[in-house]
Amino acid sequence: RDQVAVRPGRPTEVWRYKGKLLKGEAGSLQPSDSYLGPVIRLRRGQRVRIELINELPEPTIIHWHGLHVPDDMDGHPRHAIGPGQRYVYAFRVLNRAGTYWYHAHPHGRTGHQVYHGLAGLLLVSDEEEAALRLPGGDQDMPLVIQDRTFDDDNQFVYPAAGHGMGASMMSRGGGGRGMGSMMASMMGVLGDRILVNGRQVQALDVDRRARRLRLLNGSNTRTYKLAWNDGSPLTVIGTDGGLLAAPAHRKFLVLGPAERADIWTDFANWKEGESPSLQSLPFEGGMTMGSGPLPDGSQFPVLQFRIVGSGPVEPARLPDRLAQLPPVQASVAINAEHPKVFDLTMGMMVWGINGRPFEMLQATAQETVKLGTHEVWEFRNEGRNSMMGMVMAHSMHIHGLQFRVIGREIADRFAAAYRTVQPGLMDEGWKDTVLVMPGERVRVLVGFEDYPGLFLYHCHMLEHEDSGLMRNYLVK
Ligand code: C2O
Ligand code: CU
Repeated sequence: RDQVAVRPGRPTEVWRYKGKLLKGEAGSLQPSDSYLGPVIRLRRGQRVRIELINELPEPTIIHWHGLHVPDDMDGHPRHAIGPGQRYVYAFRVLNRAGTYWYHAHPHGRTGHQVYHGLAGLLLVSDEEEAALRLPGGDQDMPLVIQDRTFDDDNQFVYPAAGHGMGASMMSRGGGGRGMGSMMASMMGVLGDRILVNGRQVQALDVDRRARRLRLLNGSNTRTYKLAWNDGSPLTVIGTDGGLLAAPAHRKFLVLGPAERADIWTDFANWKEGESPSLQSLPFEGGMTMGSGPLPDGSQFPVLQFRIVGSGPVEPARLPDRLAQLPPVQASVAINAEHPKVFDLTMGMMVWGINGRPFEMLQATAQETVKLGTHEVWEFRNEGRNSMMGMVMAHSMHIHGLQFRVIGREIADRFAAAYRTVQPGLMDEGWKDTVLVMPGERVRVLVGFEDYPGLFLYHCHMLEHEDSGLMRNYLVK
């Protein structure tokens, strides 16, 4: 537990990861000046050992989001440790170079713990990436985007959870336990202040050189539709699982909770004194309840840059081939013609998948897969069983692997809303999280390699996850 400056005024009480490099460990740790954990930099192929020491008053565990690791290294909530306990992670980094992250994952408390600060970036590099000479050092800028609500005293306000999880220990003021707040904590939690890298920033000074902006939507529930304010396209070079085959250009980019995008930007496109800014554009189909002063899908500024200095004049060059990316071949799946269907459902105030809520140690026959095979999974967000026919977007994450998006299909009655986000969905490249809009079916190709065991898949809107939109899959 700590106190940090998040915005002007009184420091905010947070929970945070304070890391230090163990003797003899390869890799590096870059401490953050906010509530976020240190940026962990690792190389593909290296072995890493990490000790988690729990100094919180409640159980916790860390999940390495996006990493391909054995099941007992993955931060499943069944491995949560109590106060004062220690968990030792040791694994080999098999992932491609890319922008990954880590965060708390105890069952029922993930939303609360992440909101209070327990998250950080984990950047992997490799030789393929190094050969491209992408902007490095200061030119390689991770941007973690999150939303928070503050009380008058500058403290985070996170609604106390229902379901007997106990009142929030840190939020003040907003911690009522009425039906409204139970509803909000189940539907999702939106903040009305946008933070970048754990701070409420006005503007970032940048010189007129090319930069790599590694965007992470680290918000609990909010989805962003990011665009430059002057309408210049975004140049996307990577997704959740690393670099694309070639740069892609988008007028806007939609990032659901936990999704990442690597953006290459040449700030020489703007002149000294200009202030290009990233904003979130309006869209439909976001969260519709408990939305407060800054609803999901509204328009707001995210981050402003200020161009300083006049040089250099030479334009920066981005290679037009980036990385090896195998073509998506659904035919490798053992069920290519018959995708497994995962219906995102909601019963009596409980989210679920195919009508089942989370069970710590269970996986159904459908959720059992064979090591060394590929399968096609289809997430369906059609509001089956839902209260009042309500349907909202879900950001589906599969632990322990990277998958490819094969296809999407939208139901007619949602098509108009869908068009407000569809051009900004990045389905190229490796993904570990995919946004499934209301009325949508998203098909993914999933491969189960190297590690047998019990892994999670769930909605990364953390309040949905905490209230049951999470299940296990078992690799045998
Ligand atoms: Cu980033 Cu199970 O989550
Ligand atoms: Cu969800």
